[in-house]
Amino acid sequence: MPSATAEVKPAHRVKGRVRLTGDKSISHRYAMLAALADGPSTIESYSSGADCLTTLKCLRQLGVELEVGHAEDGSRTVTIAGRGLRGLQFPGADPGATLDAENSGTTMRLLSGVLAAQAFATRLTGDASLRKRPMRRVIEPLELMGAVITSNDGFPPMQIQGSDRIHGIAYTTPVPSAQIKSAILLCGIQANGTTVVREAVATRNHTELAFRAFGAKVAVDGTIVTVEGGQRLTGGHFVVPGDISSAAFWLAAAAALPGSDVEIENVGLNPTRTALLDVLRRGGALIDTTIDREAGGEPSGRVRVRPGARQPIVLGAGEVPLLIDEIPALAAWAANGGDLHVTGAGELRVKESDRISSLVRGFQAMGADIDEFRDGFHIRGSRRLTGGEADAVGDHRLAMAFAVAALGADGPSTVIGSESVEISYPEFFATLRRLCE
Ligand code: S3P
Repeated sequence: MPSATAEVKPAHRVKGRVRLTGDKSISHRYAMLAALADGPSTIESYSSGADCLTTLKCLRQLGVELEVGHAEDGSRTVTIAGRGLRGLQFPGADPGATLDAENSGTTMRLLSGVLAAQAFATRLTGDASLRKRPMRRVIEPLELMGAVITSNDGFPPMQIQGSDRIHGIAYTTPVPSAQIKSAILLCGIQANGTTVVREAVATRNHTELAFRAFGAKVAVDGTIVTVEGGQRLTGGHFVVPGDISSAAFWLAAAAALPGSDVEIENVGLNPTRTALLDVLRRGGALIDTTIDREAGGEPSGRVRVRPGARQPIVLGAGEVPLLIDEIPALAAWAANGGDLHVTGAGELRVKESDRISSLVRGFQAMGADIDEFRDGFHIRGSRRLTGGEADAVGDHRLAMAFAVAALGADGPSTVIGSESVEISYPEFFATLRRLCE
């Protein structure tokens, strides 16, 4: 597909209110659990991002009946007829029956866990970006649980031969990753016996909370999660809070540009996702949060952001897993008068793109003072951005980071590959224009 470009003019400040699309991570999980549940479910404010629609397409191929409706406010409500634990259907043997996770690592890794416990073989593939992302990290634990998985030397496509004799395991994840933890737990809840996942650093806990929201029991002790297999999941009504990883771009813009004031409504404030707020406060931003509700164990509310006296931000391995998706937004903050030093973030090299090298190249093209390390980068925003042509290399979070950074540049910028925002935040450029008026 030829890539689209977006011209972004300097705006110098952002002002206004933002309502977000539903959280991507939570949408994937609610859809998969609704498919495995007994009875129907409705999921309100389901993410409008292409990744979450990809999960729905895959579920349909697995025999799940579902409908996507549009509410008056433009948000999506998804209705899913649950098929019960291990109730998915063989998608067919011909190559056209392959499940295509497209650009979505979460779809591929979490569905692998679901499929490992279904007694049929499924082929899973993805787009050129996903086919470069490592899958050994889910293959290894799922094989220990009894699945037989072939892959392209640890990369997609994968063929998952599931089994109804899958058994629980005790497993320590090799890298802190909610996707690995979730793949194991999604298999574990369908398995015989107990599954225990240990992590060195806590990662987002949406799967654990979603299990409870669907009526299952899960024990959490620090970074150790235990789930008994064979638990019944019960369908119901679920509401997805707004995606804080999308909010991150407005938080970064408002914290960086003098005279800005942005209020974001209905944003998910799960403590395993809010590290960005603490880090931006450390960098001097004035941030007020109000929790308005809690649904399915997920708190949500309002966040207001204004700029304050800037301080440098230093991030290391202990903090990075808690804001891995927000690092491109933080780089945009730093590029406009901040300072961000990141190490221990090697995982960024295996995201939708090599987010270290592509981020460094894009910011350099806009005139930033930035150094690349093996596991991070250092960006010094004391030198003003000139503006320029930044290539997002098809990576949605880089496209949004370059667009936000461009607001503070001296001249106009072009973001190449701007269509990639569809992956998580189709409303991004319309919101950008509105906040800059
Ligand atoms: C996600 C976990 C993170 C994150 C991704 C979504 C999830 O990946 O980068 O965008 O929904 O579990 P890792 O768990 O691989 O770090």
